[in-house]
Amino acid sequence: MRKQIAAANWKMNLTYSEGQQLLSDILKENIGGKENHEVIFAVPFPYLAMAKEKTNGIQNYHIAAQNCSHKKSGAYTGEVSVGMLKSIDVNYCIIGHSERREYFNETNEVLAEKVNLLLEAGMTPIFCCGEPLSIREAGTQNEFVANQLKESLFHLNADDIKKVIIAYEPIWAIGTGKTATTEQAQEMHAYLRSVIAAQYGADVANEISILYGGSVKANNAKELFACADVDGGLVGGASLIATEFVEIIKALK
Ligand code: G3P
Repeated sequence: MRKQIAAANWKMNLTYSEGQQLLSDILKENIGGKENHEVIFAVPFPYLAMAKEKTNGIQNYHIAAQNCSHKKSGAYTGEVSVGMLKSIDVNYCIIGHSERREYFNETNEVLAEKVNLLLEAGMTPIFCCGEPLSIREAGTQNEFVANQLKESLFHLNADDIKKVIIAYEPIWAIGTGKTATTEQAQEMHAYLRSVIAAQYGADVANEISILYGGSVKANNAKELFACADVDGGLVGGASLIATEFVEIIKALK
């Protein structure tokens, strides 16, 4: 069975001590155990080492960065390289979040460079894609999202694309409380899997975890994760509340 993943994206929230407390509150619940389940915490850069230490030795729990530079190293003030993340044993990294695409002008081409650097370092990219409301209203969301995948991922060979986690996050559902319906989520996830299958074959497509993101909460996670092609969620707001995120982890199939 494909990996089922509950990934928390803290974004630019919480102080250091609030982050410590949140992790302690979640970890004391001791959830996990299923071999195909993974729990990932994407925390701000200054909290990575703390979060690594707290989850150290807990099977299937991982720490992710929320971004990385598309440059390898050098005079790029303020950037954090893939090599730096790897050197503190951070093995996952979110890339292409819609907030980075929108506010920091990340393009599909730059994301292709980030994917390459992460894979070269043996890390797992969590590649975000998703359409804005105007595209959804125009009914061209399938082409739009497929193009994001094609331009950032389809230069990879089959072995490498299997290492990528995809997160479909319709922008109109992020932080709005407006979740995609299970039908909308399943339809897009199945479509994206078919696009990958057309390029790489069904076996490869069936191995890739595709997460849903956008107002996932304790009270809708089970229904969303039950969809055949939804392999868990990338969670923003609800991941900042221990009781909510614990229920979301428990909702994995
Ligand atoms: O990356 C997670 C995300 O953008 C969804 O945020 O707050 O709608 O769960 P939220």
